[in-house]
Amino acid sequence: MKLDRSYQLFLEALKYLPSGVTYGNRYSEPYPIYLERAEGQYVWDVDGNRYVDLWMGHGALIMGHQYRPVVEAAVEQLRNGAHFGYSHEWEVKWAKQVCSMVPSIKMVRPTNSGTEANMYAVRLARGYTRRTLIGKFEGGWHGGYDGLQIGVTYPVDRPSSLGITENTARDTVLLAYNNLEETERRVKGRNLACIVVEPVMGAGGFIPAKREFLKGLRELCDREGIVLIFDEVITGFRLSPGGAQQLYGVIPDITVLGKAVGGGPFPAGAFGGREDIMELIDLRKHPHPYERVFHGGTYSGNPLTMRAGYTLLTELAKGEVYRHINRLGDRMRGRLEEMADGHPLHITGIGSLVCLHFTKEKPYDIHTANRTKNVEMAKEYFRHLLSKGFIFVPPHVPHLFISASHTEETIEQICDVTEEFIRARLV
Ligand SMILES: Cc1ncc(COP(=O)(O)O)c(C=O)c1O
Repeated sequence: MKLDRSYQLFLEALKYLPSGVTYGNRYSEPYPIYLERAEGQYVWDVDGNRYVDLWMGHGALIMGHQYRPVVEAAVEQLRNGAHFGYSHEWEVKWAKQVCSMVPSIKMVRPTNSGTEANMYAVRLARGYTRRTLIGKFEGGWHGGYDGLQIGVTYPVDRPSSLGITENTARDTVLLAYNNLEETERRVKGRNLACIVVEPVMGAGGFIPAKREFLKGLRELCDREGIVLIFDEVITGFRLSPGGAQQLYGVIPDITVLGKAVGGGPFPAGAFGGREDIMELIDLRKHPHPYERVFHGGTYSGNPLTMRAGYTLLTELAKGEVYRHINRLGDRMRGRLEEMADGHPLHITGIGSLVCLHFTKEKPYDIHTANRTKNVEMAKEYFRHLLSKGFIFVPPHVPHLFISASHTEETIEQICDVTEEFIRARLV
């Protein structure tokens, strides 16, 4: 495979961008592949190679690359004005659509990223409860906000970035994913403002929560007056039109959204929930700034993102796409599980989310996903897939996003090349 131009770009990038990339998880050894174009399930690099994409814009592109209705709506909006800084019709349509799809959301506000949405959700919960401490789960990734970038990376014994103060770290209580008893023990007597949880742990490797665990969390929060926040940045609009909460039948107080909520290709996030909580942002009900929670930003609710988001969501609301992507996901997990049997390889995921764990034990939390993990094997698998024309990042976490543009044939091909890999490397 010829990669001369990617290499040249990387050498140039190293001079101006730390580690040569714009986001650490886009880095791969010996150097990242630079893309030029994308369409449907494919991406093309600057050296003319074509790959089947299994990363799909960090999972944002549920319909695949360049989904026509969104592209056309966006082009028209670019002509009308992509950034007004005033109110407009598309934000009203978008908000109504989000509220009609996500069971917990009665009112909503847009942001520019999932990170930002989580930050505001936590602030809202603190404002509502007048409490300080926030609960989150070991291994849970909610973006780069200080209060939540704690206990993300294994072995979760310190903040997952430099620059997070001890005071901030003290205000975050780490909880045990899929372990209700231990979580209750850690929550007891702490007076938490909120608990933030991903119904399916994403960056941790697509580890679904057990239904009883999520139900138990709901009851715990009700008993203790804690605001339950579901981070559905990945699962929202992906697992069903109403996200994981619809699938699990567990309704949080606040839901955080991202990725697809802005149509897929545009920077987006959102948070929404119960009316009595969201009202704390309302300047008509709370005229004095000291009595309300601030939210806003230059680009929040920009017409480009709102129109693109509305266009995508109205299509997803029909529900048809889920039959296709979930069937592909079931097929892929089914075949991979069969071939992994008896090997240090475990398959997790749900719906259109599929992850391969090169571990000796089946992962159900951050510890089981990491303590026996063979990182080098995961990277080797990445290189194997790449050499066969399949691409994803980051190389050490093969968590794969299936989109509506993927086909049954593609899924069989991925399984075939994985089987080759298992036969050659995991005997
Ligand atoms: C579950 C979850 N929450 C929050 C975020 C942060 O979203 P963003 O990258 O848009 O800031 C991500 C990003 O992948 C995520 O997976």
